[in-house]
Amino acid sequence: MTTDAQRQVEEGLTAEVIASFARTPDPRLKELMEALTRHLHAFIRETRLTEQEWTKAIEFLTAVGHTTDDRRQEFILLSDVLGASMQTIAVNNEAHGDATEATVFGPFFVEESPLVDDGGDIAGDAAGTPCWVEGTVRDTDGNPVPGARIEVWEADEDGFYDVQYTDERVAGRGHLFSRPDGGFSFWCVTPTPYPIPHDGPVGALLDAVGRSPVRAAHLHFMVTAANYRTLVTHIFVEGDPQLEVGDSVFGVKESLVKRFADQPAGTPAPDGRALGDKPWARSRFDIVLAPAR
Ligand code: BEZ
Ligand code: FE
Repeated sequence: MTTDAQRQVEEGLTAEVIASFARTPDPRLKELMEALTRHLHAFIRETRLTEQEWTKAIEFLTAVGHTTDDRRQEFILLSDVLGASMQTIAVNNEAHGDATEATVFGPFFVEESPLVDDGGDIAGDAAGTPCWVEGTVRDTDGNPVPGARIEVWEADEDGFYDVQYTDERVAGRGHLFSRPDGGFSFWCVTPTPYPIPHDGPVGALLDAVGRSPVRAAHLHFMVTAANYRTLVTHIFVEGDPQLEVGDSVFGVKESLVKRFADQPAGTPAPDGRALGDKPWARSRFDIVLAPAR
């Protein structure tokens, strides 16, 4: 039971810290620091946080920092599993007509991915079932967007991105440009569910709260074109049981779940590619870009 005197001490401290930002020259930084103080203090007061718990939280954040290097971004993982990444995306990507919905970026995008021609293969040596993806890039009035840069990246069928291997392989990533009619197509591998890296402090946190690290199967896209809002999104695989179980980073949106139709061995490929006795799959993703703000 908090007495009036105690409440005054606690509220007084919050007010004092907020006042300490009064002379911040950047008004946005001032707003952010004041709100952060209000919410952080409210959290501490609401939960009656113990000193041991605060120490544990600091040790946890320290471990997150120590796990982070130029190949492993544990802070992004933490933001993702707390839903903070998706909440930031929600705040910044309000629905605009039928523009394609955005979802989480994740830590595995790499600049300077290989360029492939339309109909090319972004899989490289990544293990998995070949998958043909085709679609169009249009604006919200239905006009084609030619020359849009389409970045694609994905894990292999063992659940690993190329950058998670210790060799220098580049596989399961690439970029291409939409055709003059807005169309695009490429080969990749059929996405499969995989766990986010869970051998560090974020994995230990998921374990402690009884949550799975597994993400629903998905293929990442980032689409950029002059005068349009950059779209960072995925497509998910219809029928993936993980969609029912839940996605560890809250990235699934109904509109992004697409059919990946299995094609039995021997089915001719759209571009005549010789697939031998291998089955393959195909999917369609029609992308709609919102205008730049
Ligand atoms: C990913 O989809 O690549 C990803 C997203 C969030 C956390 C870890 C991985
Ligand atoms: Fe991913």
